[in-house]
Formats: sequence, C-alpha cells, structure tokens
Amino acid sequence: MEDIKNLEHFQAKIDRGDKIEPNDWMPDAYRKSLVRMMSQHAHSEIVGMLPEGNWLTRAPSLRRKMIAMAKIQDEAGHGLYLYSAAETLGTPREELLHALHTGKAKYSSIFNYPTLTWADMGMVGWLVDGAAMVNQVSLIGTSYGPYSRAMVRICKEEAFHNRQGYEIVATLCDGTPEQKEMAQEALNRWWWPSLMMFGPKGEASVHSEQSLKWKIKTEDNESLRQSFIDMTVPQAEARGLKIPDDNLKWNEEENRYEYSEIQWDEFFNVIKGNGVMNSKRVAARKDAHDNGAWVRDAAEAYAKKQAQKVA
Ligand code: 3HC
Repeated sequence: MEDIKNLEHFQAKIDRGDKIEPNDWMPDAYRKSLVRMMSQHAHSEIVGMLPEGNWLTRAPSLRRKMIAMAKIQDEAGHGLYLYSAAETLGTPREELLHALHTGKAKYSSIFNYPTLTWADMGMVGWLVDGAAMVNQVSLIGTSYGPYSRAMVRICKEEAFHNRQGYEIVATLCDGTPEQKEMAQEALNRWWWPSLMMFGPKGEASVHSEQSLKWKIKTEDNESLRQSFIDMTVPQAEARGLKIPDDNLKWNEEENRYEYSEIQWDEFFNVIKGNGVMNSKRVAARKDAHDNGAWVRDAAEAYAKKQAQKVA
C-alpha cells in the first residue's frame, strides 16, 4: 500500500514539473534507468575525448591546437559532472567505470568511427557536438535534479564546441578545391552516424515510453533527430556542401526535411560492440584508468592525511 501511495505522490511531482532530488523517494526502475542513461552519457564524454586526441599533435596551427585542447578538457569535465551526478543515485564510480572497461556499458555509437582527416575534426564539432547539444538542451528539462543542473553548464560549453567545429568546416570550404573536397568527403562519412546518435526509432527505443512518462527524457529520439536535421541542412548548404542523401527534401506543409531511412543494421551492429574503433576506444579508456591509479591513490592518501589533521 505504501509503495502505491509513494508512486502516486512521485508521479504527481513529475507531472507538476518538480525536480526529483537524491534523497527523495523514487521507484527503483527510475533510479536504474537514470544510472544507465547518465553513466552512458558520462562514458560518451570521456570516450569522446579520444577522436580529437588523435589530432592534437597534427593540428594545422597553434590556434587550432589550443582550441582542440580546450575542447578535450571540457569533455573530461563533462564526464566528471555526469559521473558525480550519477553517483548521487548510489552507484559508486568504480562500478560505473568497470562496466565501461568490460564492455557491459555502452557509450555513444558515434565514437566508434575513426577520425581520418583534419576535416573530421570539423565534423566532430559541427555534427557530433551539434547533435549532442540538441539532445542535451532537451535534457535540461529532465526530472532528475542533479542531471538537469549538470546539463546547464555542459550545454554552454557544447555551444563553443559546435561553433569551433563549424569554423573548421567553413575554413576548409573557403580554401582550396582539395580542402573543400576533404570537407565534403568527411561529411559523407559523418552525416549518417550523427543521425544515429539520437538512438533507434519506434518500438526499438525500448526505454522511451517510460522515460517520457517520468520526464527522464522530455522529447523522443525521432523528434530530436528531426530538430537536428532541420537545423543542420541549411548550415551545410550555406557552405556549398551536399548532404549525402538523395531523398533529402524540404516538406513545406510539414515544415521539416524528409530524409531516407537510416541503416539501422549498421547502428545495432555498432552498439553491439562491432564498430571499427570499439575495441581501441575501450582499451584506451582502460589503459588511461590503470595508468591513472597512482593519481587516485595519491589524492586519497592526501585526503586521509588532511582528515586526520582536522580530527
Ligand atoms: N549509442 C549507443 N547506444 C545507444 C544509442 C547510441 N547513440 N542510442 C540508443 N542506444 C542504446 C540505449 O542505450 C539502449 O541500450 P541499453 O538498454 O543497453 O542502454 C538501446 O540502444 C535502446 O535505445 P533507447 O532509445 O531505448 O535508449 P534511451 O531511451 O536511453 O535513448 C539516448 C538513447 C537518446 C542516447 C539517451 O540515452 C540519451 O539521451 N542519453 C543522454 C545523452 C547522451 O548520452 N548523449 C551521447 C552523446 S554525448 C556526446 O557526444 C558528448 C560529446 O560532446 C563528446
């Protein structure tokens, strides 16, 4: 009886638009879904540092190198906010990271694609961070307080990531024919995987119905994907780039772009762990974690010493 009353009270809070805080009563399934989604979001942030890390030593100018370093540092900070926010639900960070290192936990499909040319750095900022921004702006409205507040700071920094990426693309498009071609070739590789970032559609989005009822998500995958497409196509056209989709066309009546069916078998194959870069990404994260153990030990030892001084 008590749980039924708690659930009714909980749903009434959600329906009123109240935020749920760590010490509030919440259904186990709400807690579980948030730990899943927030930890995978955090994993995406720290894995998301790797594609750009690959170009740090090869950036075409000191300015580009400094911007890339700032962005990569931001992503590390985003991971920190999100792991800290996820820990408020009671799952220790070591457990979350173990799930990543053992392949049990997912991270965003997009990071399993290689960054082959400098134009890819532009696509990662313009398309990947652009898609992440559309998704994360909607998550500012999520019902879980710590997650919603983490999104506010992350979205501000994501805007910088998106703009610096578009600037790289614009510079290439205004450059030599070879540079323009490099941008187009990168767009051809990154367009569809960027659309896949928003997740599967319809029934295949197994969490959406409950997540929307509990306002963990405020919009479904398809509507976020559509917002991203409608925002991004004019940006490509402004630079004389062609979106690699022959069926892309503006639907005046519905005020949106129509587009071809996404290759969902590729998406599900990648999230099953068969992406080109999957094993390298997980190995790199595990390596960084293992090699960073001494930093965590030193920080813990210092904290213990400080605590003894105060006691
Ligand atoms: N990559 C990997 N797995 C994905 C995915 C994707 N793009 N989209 C969906 N999935 C997985 C889900 O995790 C779920 O599997 P699980 O049960 O093992 O967790 C399954 O596919 C079914 O998908 P659902 O649509 O039911 O899952 P969700 O309701 O969780 O929706 C989501 C998927 C839209 C990605 C949602 O989890 C979400 O909004 N997450 C928070 C935002 C986020 O993680 N963004 C990732 C990019 S962050 C980024 O790029 C930062 C950059 O700046 C570095």
